Formats: sequence, C-alpha cells, structure tokens
Amino acid sequence: IPKKPLAGRHVLVTSGPTHEPIDPVRYLANRSSGRQGHAVAAAAAEAGARVTLVSGPVAIPDPAGVTVVRVESAREMLAAVEAALPADLAIFAAAVGDWRPAEMRAGKIKKDGSTPAPLQLVENPDILATIAGRSEGRPPLVVGFAAETDDVIVNAQKKIARKGCDWIVANDVSAEGGVMGGTENTVHLVARDGGSSVETWPKLGKEEVARRLVARFAELLAAK
Ligand code: C5P
Repeated sequence: IPKKPLAGRHVLVTSGPTHEPIDPVRYLANRSSGRQGHAVAAAAAEAGARVTLVSGPVAIPDPAGVTVVRVESAREMLAAVEAALPADLAIFAAAVGDWRPAEMRAGKIKKDGSTPAPLQLVENPDILATIAGRSEGRPPLVVGFAAETDDVIVNAQKKIARKGCDWIVANDVSAEGGVMGGTENTVHLVARDGGSSVETWPKLGKEEVARRLVARFAELLAAK
C-alpha cells in the first residue's frame, strides 16, 4: 500500500451542523459535533490529498493541512461546496438542517407577553443529492453519511437510490449508542450495487473510522 494513496487528488468534505437563522440571535441547529467529518478531512490530508473542508459551526479545532471554509446555513454550505468543485472524491458528513425558517426576521423577536407567531419552515437544498445528481462536474466518487435510529442498512440502501451517491456510511445514532457528539462510531459501509456489499465495522474511534474510510475510498478511486 502506498503511503500517500491520495497524492494529487482533491478531496471535498462537509462536516458539522448547520445553523438556520430565526432572527439575529436565534437559530435552529442539531447535535452534530463535526468530529467524524473533521477526522475524515484530517485522514485524507494525511493520505496526501489536497483537502477542502466545508464546515458548519463547530467547537473543535481545524484539522492540520486542510483548507477550511466556514459556513453557517445549508444554503451557504451548498454555495461553498459548489465553489470548491471540481473534486475527485466528495464526502458529505455534515448534518445539514432539513428545514430553515421561511424568513429570517431582521430584528430580534421580542418577548412581549404574547405567544410568538409559529415558525414557518421551508425545506433546505439537499447538498449531497444536488452534487451527486449532476451530469457535469460530478466527482467520480460521491459518499454520503446516514444517521439512522432504525433499520440502518435498509434505509441506507434507499438513501443511496434517492440521493444518487455511490456509497453511504451508515451509523446508528440511537441515543444509547452515544455516537452523536461522542468519540466512537459503529459504521456500515453500503455500496450502490446493493446488499451483497455491506461491510459492518466494529466499534472504533472516529479517527480510526476516518483512516479506514479514506484507505477504502483511495483504493476505489485508484481502481476507476
Ligand atoms: O437524508 P439525510 O439527511 O439522512 O441524508 C444524510 C446525507 O445527506 C449526509 O451525507 C448529509 O451530509 C447529506 N445531506 C446534505 N444536504 C441536506 C441533507 C443531507 O448534503 N440538506
């Protein structure tokens, strides 16, 4: 195995949550820490790739040797991803908010004793599906993540079909697993070509998961 299997490659990674503004001081978010995505970016850099990491707001340090583009909302993330293309490998590990408030209020919503108007939500763009569905400029290898609490593998296979990606890294985020925000992960690697190629890995540190994923995707790229 070569030591720098991704030398000469550009790898794009999304990581972290998104913040969807309600007003200047409030937002909708989720519990993603960015640990798994950041670890993937770091591992890709160690493997010799030029890496662009598009990250939502996280409290962890930037990985070494990686160009980090910081964004807040899903729409900003999509724009940053598009600006970073072309890439040889794109790994979408961000926990993108599915919805955003239909409008961001220009001023802080006041607590004036009455019930505030209900939040109207609209759907965010699906960044993975947008990039994987491109006919031109689609990265040769597009990988999504799936956080599931039930029927992890079946849902991952459906997600591959729906999103048009090549692989899904599925992880069980049931509360008892402590994956979301935690330091370890149990993943299933699911390929587009179906049930025959599901790999279930043991519970590993997120850094080790990242190294193994990067080694695997480097092999797949080399075989293309
Ligand atoms: O549909 P779901 O959110 O479970 O899909 C997860 C995968 O899709 C992840 O790879 C995530 O980064 C990506 N995604 C995205 N844009 C969205 C929602 C999810 O890129 N708006």
